[in-house]
Amino acid sequence: MTGGRPSQSTKRPTMAETLQSPERLLRQGGRDVIIALYTALRSLKLYPVENTQVQRSLDDLTSTAAALLASEQELEIRLAGDFVFVNSTRLRLGLDNYASFSHVLGTLRQCGIGTVRVGEHMERREWQVFVSQLLVFSHRAADPNKLAELQQKLAQGGVGHLTVEAASESEDESEDQEKSKEVAKRTYERSVSVTKEVINSVRMGRSASVKKVKRAVQSIVDQVLSNEVSLVGLTTIRDYDEYTFTHSVNVCIFSVAMGRRLGLTKLQLYDLGMAALFHDVGKSRVPMEVLGKEGALTEDEWRIMQAHPWLGVLTLFGLRGYGEIPYRGMIVAYEHHMKIDLTGYPKSIRPRQMSVYSKIVACADGFDAATSRRVYQTTPIQPDQVLREMWENPRRGQDRVIVKALINLLGIYPVGTCVILDTYDVGLVHAANPDPEQLHRPLVRIVSTPEGGTLQQGPVVDLATTRSDGTFERTIIKVTDPAKYGINPSDYFV
Ligand SMILES: [Fe+2]
Ligand SMILES: [Fe+2]
Repeated sequence: MTGGRPSQSTKRPTMAETLQSPERLLRQGGRDVIIALYTALRSLKLYPVENTQVQRSLDDLTSTAAALLASEQELEIRLAGDFVFVNSTRLRLGLDNYASFSHVLGTLRQCGIGTVRVGEHMERREWQVFVSQLLVFSHRAADPNKLAELQQKLAQGGVGHLTVEAASESEDESEDQEKSKEVAKRTYERSVSVTKEVINSVRMGRSASVKKVKRAVQSIVDQVLSNEVSLVGLTTIRDYDEYTFTHSVNVCIFSVAMGRRLGLTKLQLYDLGMAALFHDVGKSRVPMEVLGKEGALTEDEWRIMQAHPWLGVLTLFGLRGYGEIPYRGMIVAYEHHMKIDLTGYPKSIRPRQMSVYSKIVACADGFDAATSRRVYQTTPIQPDQVLREMWENPRRGQDRVIVKALINLLGIYPVGTCVILDTYDVGLVHAANPDPEQLHRPLVRIVSTPEGGTLQQGPVVDLATTRSDGTFERTIIKVTDPAKYGINPSDYFV
């Protein structure tokens, strides 16, 4: 039947056009604009405006934006949390564009910009003024009038087709933030309790169903994808008594967040999350006296402890509700202490390569274990030191690409690290700096003043902020043990 066909004169879309949905085109175009803006910012920072590279980057920026404007009429680039939206479509972050996105995000934020609106007929000359002013203003000290001054400069420079607006620090946004914090907290607590249920059943020899755990992992993945900061912040909860369960949940959160940065799909993240949550399930078959023993283990006890990887594989065979046999989970349980040079345990007879999932979980596991207080580790090692050690010491047996993903996630100073600043304020790292070039300058919540007063809701400061002479307002002098200052990091993240 041909009656329903569009009129003969309508050109049928080519295969390529059919495959390219408007949303996908927007995503692609939006990404190109951000990358072009990044290139222009970088070149203009390095060279004078007459330089051919600068000129070429401005040509490129103008034409990429024009191409998108031809179909969209107006271009709205909006920042929300860690995300960039172009005309309400969220751009996808990948490892290949992560650096450029973060740089643009950081630059706009330093200027106080939340939204950039570009109209049709935007000219190359206007782009040049905009990019130059961004460079000037992003290096100025924080000042509430910064954005107004920038707007004035743009108007004076004859920029009529582009406007900038402040990040809406509106009440609903902070309310949204509060809400997402609440949701994150609930997810965390629920994950701990369902993990506890399963592990305790296994310990008592009952068969356990993982259905609820599956749901908990799904919400962990969903939240890492939509609001990473809230959930990762919660991993600072390291409950001494509940170590086994909080550890599993923390390893799950870190693994999923790292997997996301390494470009895994959502389905792969579910799989990885389940494997991570159950990486130590074999410990539920290790007697409590051995697990909780203070002081050194005897050789026999150590042997039992080292059996937990393959005991984990056996346990996973016995769990209900997994759907199919959880091969990946079994591999992770088996391999997570092997180390990439196979010097760990269980010993491998033949040469083998650890699976990527095992490498991710091993890295998350190593980090969480070293930074927690446990029976045989009364003082946890400071997080920045743990990262450095995992990065530098080959004997830790970590894959450096994976460690890099963890460092990118946490910053060199992970969330919750207690730091002393050159202003003699004591602070807790609140989030990694969105600009990857500023990994050593995180956002810090001031929790204690130079006079020693403790602040419950101290301000969050960006250590990348400079004064008018270009020097930094605040710099970390050293990392310290929060207990020395009577500070409990988890108070500030819950
Ligand atoms: Fe383990
Ligand atoms: Fe572990």
